[in-house]
Amino acid sequence: MNKDLNAIQADRPDIITTEIEAIRFYRKMDTTATVNEMIAGKYVLVEEFYSNGLQVLNELRKNLLLKHQDKSFQGQRDYRAAFRKASHRLLLKVKDNKLTVKKAPDSGWLTVLYPDVSEFYVPFPQMQGMNSSWQWYEKGLEIKTLDLTLKPYYGTYFPTRFDHLKLFDKWLKKYEGSKENAIDIGVGSGILTFQLIQNGFKNIFATDTNKNAIIGVAEESKRLGFEDKITLNHADLFENCDVKADLIVFNPPWLLAKHALEEGIDKAMYYEEDLFPRFFEQALDHLTPEGKVVLIFSNLARVVDKESTHPIIEELQKHKRFRKELHLTREVRASSRRTKRRDSRDNEKVELWVLVPKVKN
Ligand SMILES: C[S@@+](CC[C@H](N)C(=O)[O-])C[C@H]1O[C@@H](n2cnc3c(N)ncnc32)[C@H](O)[C@@H]1O
Repeated sequence: MNKDLNAIQADRPDIITTEIEAIRFYRKMDTTATVNEMIAGKYVLVEEFYSNGLQVLNELRKNLLLKHQDKSFQGQRDYRAAFRKASHRLLLKVKDNKLTVKKAPDSGWLTVLYPDVSEFYVPFPQMQGMNSSWQWYEKGLEIKTLDLTLKPYYGTYFPTRFDHLKLFDKWLKKYEGSKENAIDIGVGSGILTFQLIQNGFKNIFATDTNKNAIIGVAEESKRLGFEDKITLNHADLFENCDVKADLIVFNPPWLLAKHALEEGIDKAMYYEEDLFPRFFEQALDHLTPEGKVVLIFSNLARVVDKESTHPIIEELQKHKRFRKELHLTREVRASSRRTKRRDSRDNEKVELWVLVPKVKN
């Protein structure tokens, strides 16, 4: 385990620690007037019950939808931006790392993420995010393929469908190469790393640009007893990695970003144009002579837009660095067997690519 991990501070929602001037909102107050004040730039503090905040948010949604009736992409984007801006002026008070309103859902993140401060104001939508994340963390995410339950850390990507894990599992069970060292790029909540360990890999070097992913996997490694097998690194791709691996695995973001990326979950979903070329260039330097690169990908971008490029196919066509050893696909099942998906995601497939260098190291 990486010794510098204690120095990493988790990313957490911004809070207000100074006294603020705010309208105090009680249940029987005029919601329309309150929302108009919020849109005009005033802070509103939720009093009495947590549900009072939900009431204000509902009214805000209605108000802004009336003003943003343009259903175009840009129109909807403008609506979301206006909602985001105004809704973040709705605040909850935290005292002794607990919400002061009654009947609020439990969120241990108020203690875990804010050890340095106990009294502050938190924007209501951020609190909703922490609440739902805490529920996943407490309950755990059962992954039958791995026969384990993960506790995803706040602000970390975790899968809700498992077809790609089954595909990887199928391939791993047949893998006959050396199992000395593997590198997991973009470790997320640790799933692929744990899968590698369960299948006999001895040392995993795992990286992620998301600090919370690294903190979360460090915690999970201890809980699952894998601590001595994993080295964690908060870094971009192979930065500070001097390992040569038998296997490099990467389940990258699947969609090309058309917006400036934010740190955190955004980078789990969307990639910048240079991510794949940088990955392939660096991967080449981190493989043993018999080493392989395994990428998990999806045709999602192509299902949504037929013209979109496929970064792995592009790499194989444009450069002479790697050749394709294997390409497996698996249909993505609807979340419920009874739900018949009739949308464009009907054709969605997950892909597993195994690439080997053309010139041996
Ligand atoms: C789709 S998620 C996959 C997470 C996990 N491996 C899994 O299979 O569930 C992609 C992960 O890659 C990370 N990531 C994105 N760009 C990265 C980069 N340049 N270097 C390292 N990690 C990166 C994201 O933060 C995210 O955790």
